[in-house]
Amino acid sequence: MKVARISLFAALLALTASLTYAQPAVEVRVQNLLDQMTLEEKVGQMTQITLEVVSVGEGPGIREPLMLDRKKLREIILDRGVGALFNVGTHAHSLESWNEIISEIQDVAREGRLKIPVLYGIDAIHGATYTRGATLFPQSIGMASTWNPDLLRLASEITAVEVRASGIPWNFNPVLDSGRQPLWPRLWETFGEDALLTTAMGVAYVKGQEGDANDISAPDRVASCLKHYIGYGHPVSGKDRTPAWVPDHYLRQYILPPYIAAVAAGAHTVMVNSGDINGVPVHINRYLLTDLLRGELGFKGLIDSDYADIAKLYQNHRVAADNKDAVRMAVMAGIDMVMVPADFSFTDDLIALVREGKVPMSRIDEACGRILKLKYQLGLFDNPYPDKSLKARFATPEAAVINLRAAQESLVLLKNEGGILPLKKSAKILVTGPTANRLSVLNGGWTYTWQGNREDLLPKDKLTILKAIAAEAGANRVSFSLGSTYDSEADIAAAVKAAKKADVVVACLGEEPYCETPGNIGDLTLPQSQLDLVLALQKSGKPVVVVLLQGRPRIIRPIVDGARAILLAWLPGMEGGRAIADVLFGDANPSGRLPVTYPRSPNDLVLYDHLWTENTGGTNRFNPQWPFGFGLSYTTFAYSDLKLDKSSAARGEVITASVTVTNTGQVAGLETVQLYLSDLVASIAPPNKRLKGFRKIELAPGESKTVYFTLSGEEMSFIGLDGKPVIEPGEFRVTVADLSSNFTLK
Ligand code: NOJ
Repeated sequence: MKVARISLFAALLALTASLTYAQPAVEVRVQNLLDQMTLEEKVGQMTQITLEVVSVGEGPGIREPLMLDRKKLREIILDRGVGALFNVGTHAHSLESWNEIISEIQDVAREGRLKIPVLYGIDAIHGATYTRGATLFPQSIGMASTWNPDLLRLASEITAVEVRASGIPWNFNPVLDSGRQPLWPRLWETFGEDALLTTAMGVAYVKGQEGDANDISAPDRVASCLKHYIGYGHPVSGKDRTPAWVPDHYLRQYILPPYIAAVAAGAHTVMVNSGDINGVPVHINRYLLTDLLRGELGFKGLIDSDYADIAKLYQNHRVAADNKDAVRMAVMAGIDMVMVPADFSFTDDLIALVREGKVPMSRIDEACGRILKLKYQLGLFDNPYPDKSLKARFATPEAAVINLRAAQESLVLLKNEGGILPLKKSAKILVTGPTANRLSVLNGGWTYTWQGNREDLLPKDKLTILKAIAAEAGANRVSFSLGSTYDSEADIAAAVKAAKKADVVVACLGEEPYCETPGNIGDLTLPQSQLDLVLALQKSGKPVVVVLLQGRPRIIRPIVDGARAILLAWLPGMEGGRAIADVLFGDANPSGRLPVTYPRSPNDLVLYDHLWTENTGGTNRFNPQWPFGFGLSYTTFAYSDLKLDKSSAARGEVITASVTVTNTGQVAGLETVQLYLSDLVASIAPPNKRLKGFRKIELAPGESKTVYFTLSGEEMSFIGLDGKPVIEPGEFRVTVADLSSNFTLK
């Protein structure tokens, strides 16, 4: 009896405690706060300012190591009520220094009238890029080459832990732009040219950042940011932030699907494309930002502008007369927060616009409400400070193992004539070329700095390709001669001389790190001096293995025939050197497959899912250097028994396709089984084929597996001119590898 009474008491106590401490719903808390806020405070929340502005020093004179300026910090947070900060100031900071920076910012926020925490956002594109010593994975184009969303999810989870350990709760990633313009300097930030692959990767990334239930208050999760909504990857000229011309049905067919899926996966924020589509900057496009994104896709989170995009509306696009006009247009189109980035032009103009009745207060409450809601969802009101216990989970050896695996799986073997690879470790090797002995080229942009080209800042314990080859083969067997820089000859004759003493040459070519507009190029061909180096080495008679470190498919046609092997490494991250050496020596079997079409000629940039009119034969032949989905292995795979469970189907019926894959070689390998569907006749000229399913499988030598795919109405539909999905009866062709089978839809 006594026991029962005690437990009743305990239950009552627990109930009272939960009643006392249970928080009201987030919406109620947001409304309570909004009710207490002035117009200035609300607009302050909508203002996002770069860290430089609150640091000691200015511009190039900013103090190193970075130090916050308390006075400036108080001014922007307490006097101006700024709601969000972003970026890095100078370059990567240590974990401890980030913890101090964030704590100091939040200390000041707590001095405020309403104690609203500051939201901090950062570009942790391939890992916690701005925290020294973080696990830096292959860039997205390499992750897409793995065709392994599960592996990307692991990488994304590790990134979330390391970003949050830095005290930062908001990551400006994933990039869901479609990589359908090979010249574009941000191609490497995408998951390639296909909507289905981008969708699978994008969803995996969001879930890795936010968790299954999108509980971003969890101490090891961050809010993800889908960017750059929408159409950013389509500049006609190939130059960054230049016009795109995209019909609505094309946008919905090829560009929108990853956003639909990632919004459904619960992503909390979206960043907007700085460019324009059909002459209208996306920042003022109410149809795209509000009707489509919120109305149709059901997005409920925060819409952030990109960098300085209000100013660009009148300075570059010239659709607004001045800043005030631009602010009104953007806010009324649906922008909730503006990455200003360095002054109060947005804030002052928006306050004036509300006072003049040109922007309704309801729009301010809506935008500010979404920002406050995100801060509640992130748990910042309860605890805005870094969780120091996460240090134990920062850059762990386990994370490095996953990173190495990701780098290995991202490598695409494009050519291996006569099985020159794997190399024998006893071979004498000449390593040459501008990307052979640098870490920066393994990582690309968003690595310690925006451009990623400060070799001096990068960790000393990570291996370049040269060092990794020397570590695996023994330094006495490996020599180095630069041959060429990125774009001019160093000493090709010296490299050729050195090649004569070697058994094999590994020529490491590619691009200097770049990011955004500075990466614009006028010619997709790899610079001539690098091609000359390889041509000279090929003439020497020694076998040449080419390794490519680059963010887009640079044209290398003149050296393809003479190269014995070509390994495309993209930007494989901090373990990239080891991964490349592992593949060169056969310690890892390459399994990457191209997520883009690799062009043969600079003016022939036709994609894999082209229309039939783009491949009519003769002078109009689809003739890439390597097709989308291509990649070799050290083993061989045979495909057989492609079967459809029915040869005709009624609308709404599902067709199941199966195919058997056998490892016919001598070593275990990973194969990505890809299923393509062609709608043979349609009322809008159909693409010749589109990817509709893929599965990555592992096969031991001699082993066979049967893989199943289902095709439903969704896969058989296309987007009509009215922007709606249509399914038309007729004949379809299913293709897997070199097998195909047709069915009729009644
Ligand atoms: C501009 C870039 O376009 C965007 O990707 C990035 O997130 C912001 N700057 C913040 O650095």
